Amino acid sequence: MMNLRFSHPYLKGKLRVASDKSISHRALMLGAYSKGKTEIHHLLQAKDITSTKEALQKAGAMITEDNGRIIVEGCNRQWKEEELFFDLGNSGTSARLLSGLFANTTKTYHFTGDESLQQRPMKRIIDPLEKMGVHFTTQNMKLPFAFSSMELQGMTYSLPVASAQVKSAILLAGLSAKGDTTVIETIPTRNHTEEMLPFFGGRVEVQEKEEHTEIQLVGNQELEGTELFVPADISSAAFFIVGAILTPKSDLYLMDLTKNKTRNGLVEVLLRMGAHLEWIPQENGLYQLHCQYSPNLKGTIVEGKEIPQLIDELPLLALVATQAEGKTIVRNAEELKVKESNRILSTATELKKLGAEIVVKEDGWEIAGDSLLHGGKVESHQDHRIAMMLMIAALLIPEPVFLTDEQAMEISYPSFMNNLQSVLYEEFMI
Ligand code: S3P
Repeated sequence: MMNLRFSHPYLKGKLRVASDKSISHRALMLGAYSKGKTEIHHLLQAKDITSTKEALQKAGAMITEDNGRIIVEGCNRQWKEEELFFDLGNSGTSARLLSGLFANTTKTYHFTGDESLQQRPMKRIIDPLEKMGVHFTTQNMKLPFAFSSMELQGMTYSLPVASAQVKSAILLAGLSAKGDTTVIETIPTRNHTEEMLPFFGGRVEVQEKEEHTEIQLVGNQELEGTELFVPADISSAAFFIVGAILTPKSDLYLMDLTKNKTRNGLVEVLLRMGAHLEWIPQENGLYQLHCQYSPNLKGTIVEGKEIPQLIDELPLLALVATQAEGKTIVRNAEELKVKESNRILSTATELKKLGAEIVVKEDGWEIAGDSLLHGGKVESHQDHRIAMMLMIAALLIPEPVFLTDEQAMEISYPSFMNNLQSVLYEEFMI
């Protein structure tokens, strides 16, 4: 248990937060599929990435560290020809994307995960991958499952759920399929797979039509190893963005971020609420985000196509909403129920223990603003993003906040506390 107590805290200085989790998973996976060597700089070091790394090693890729860089010797899409067992821990991205990447295995691959991952829906990847020729053995469309295939066939598939993990699983399977694969999405989701493939020589074309986006991938492709630099993770930066805008005197620069519109929903919504945030270009093509205390935030409505652009940041947005003037409504966010915890419930339950006024809806929340939060005992629900959101909430509260299961943050951000301490200042009142 962690005892958090701050006296007039504020965030100041410069910080490069942890590297991007989504990009780190994909860098390892595409490197493992490729022919030759991939060199990855700034790969995220966190439990979910270890799950992907160990699975790829088991399937035959050589992954080593050399002076801070990660070197992947790819298998040229020849995964190990034997029955294999994989434990993907807590990582939904590993389980779903690796099902697509390994879909061309002729031997049986068995997947399982921790208690939380075994609850998460897998029908969303099983259905399309079966259409492509993968044979799954599963009891309830969840983990554990096993799969193998004789031959994969490309297809055209319209995503029934706005999920980058489903889109990516299909594209990764499409790489070794006969014939081309097209994924159609009506609601844009994070686009890292299709953006990163060309770095490995992958042939993929993205067409933005009026009502939807089409991602067309050439079938039966070899990829070539490459060199990659992983930027900082906007979803990890989000904790510091919110910490800075909510604490008086804060003035913080977050470094090495990308300005990817499929990931920047939180910044867009906060700007609309009146936050003092500014993108500043860096010489290396990445951006700094300058974040300052923002005393006059206004409630807002977040819904529809905006939701996937900030899906992982919604628990933090709920915290911001408690401090804004007026009501905030979040709708169409039912996907939150099937994350590492049911985040509609875990967010509301824990913030209410600290004095927030939140009405839980089927697909989101109604959150009253202007709440004076108070101390209390809260829990992470074994969910990394809930643990870190609650630590940021504690910055707003003069009384102690006791947080249990805080080690959940190691899933995406083991250095969170160190990073927080490096920019945290307190004014001790006499
Ligand atoms: C991710 C996609 C999102 C996100 C997750 C990472 C990815 O999940 O919540 O943290 O890297 O593709 P969904 O695709 O299930 O929305």
